[in-house]
Parts: sequence; structure tokens; C-alpha cells
Amino acid sequence: MKSIDIIHAEHRALASVLQALRSVVTEIRAGKLQPDFRLLSAMIDYITQLPEKVHHPKEDQLLFPKLRSRSAKAAELIAILEEQHLEGYRMTVALMQSLIHYQSMGSAGFAAFDALVQQYLDFNWKHLNLEEKELLPIAREALSADDWKELDAAFSANADPFSGAKGEFDALFKKIVQLTPAPYGLG
Ligand SMILES: [Fe+2]
Ligand SMILES: [Fe+2]
Repeated sequence: MKSIDIIHAEHRALASVLQALRSVVTEIRAGKLQPDFRLLSAMIDYITQLPEKVHHPKEDQLLFPKLRSRSAKAAELIAILEEQHLEGYRMTVALMQSLIHYQSMGSAGFAAFDALVQQYLDFNWKHLNLEEKELLPIAREALSADDWKELDAAFSANADPFSGAKGEFDALFKKIVQLTPAPYGLG
């Protein structure tokens, strides 16, 4: 089940950037860190683009349709997850707008940005948990060996941020790690 490994790996990459974002925003709120807008915009770019271009296509176009055809129980859950993909994208666009506002307003713009970040973090943990704890267990049960073979082949053909083909996201991830202060990054 290479497909499940790829989904886990992409979730981990997203979660580590979200964790770093949480830590950076907490430090700014505590007055321990000056905002680094290059870092914040790289983080928001990553959590917008990686799901949109790499991760959600695998779920929306490959895993979900296959699983929906095999399990009525999964179908209900998938409808919720698909709606969350759309909502998540809208939230990341709002986050980037809020960041631009924060950058132009200075510290007066922080509270609104902070509130959106917290809202997004909460939303996204719930989404990842729903997929990891509810959807993937159903998939493991409901899909046959042939289904997995088909999905694994389709996933391999899809963009993978950890292969050379998606060096763009690899480079962005490295940049985030370089700019993020320890202990979450190397900065
Ligand atoms: Fe998802
Ligand atoms: Fe996912």
C-alpha cells in the first residue's frame, strides 16, 4: 500500500510546517520573536500549494472516487472531507491576505492574523485526524489488493513532493526549515 505511505508522508510534511507556524506565532505573541514575513509567507505558501497541487488531487481524484465506489460508509465521510478541502483552501487564501495586512499595519495587525492562524490550525488538525483515524482504516478494509495496485500506480504517476519531480516543494520546505528558529527549524 504505497499510496497510504505517500498520504502519511504528505500529512507529516504539512503537520511539521503547521507545528513550526504555531511555534513562531506563539513566540511573536509572547514578544520573544520579531515577525519574519519572508518565513511566514513561505509557510503559508507551502500549506496552500502543497495540498492544492500535490496532496488533494491524490485524494479527490484517485482515493476518494475508488473508495466511494466500494463503501457506503466511506461515502458520507468523503463528502465531508471534500467540503473541508474547499474550505481549507479558502482559509489559506484568507491567511495570506491577513499576513499582507499584518505586514503593512505592523503590530496592530497581529491579533487578527493570530486568530486566523489558530482557527486554521484547529481546522486542519481535525481534517488530518479524520483522514488518518477514520478514512484510512475504512480504506484498508474496503479496498482489494487490485484496488491498491491500481491506486499505487496512479499515485506514482501523480506529483510527489519527495521525488525530484516536485523539487519546487522540496526547496520551499528546506527554505522554511532554514528560516524557522530552533527547536523547530535551523534558524
Ligand atoms: Fe484531505
Ligand atoms: Fe489528506
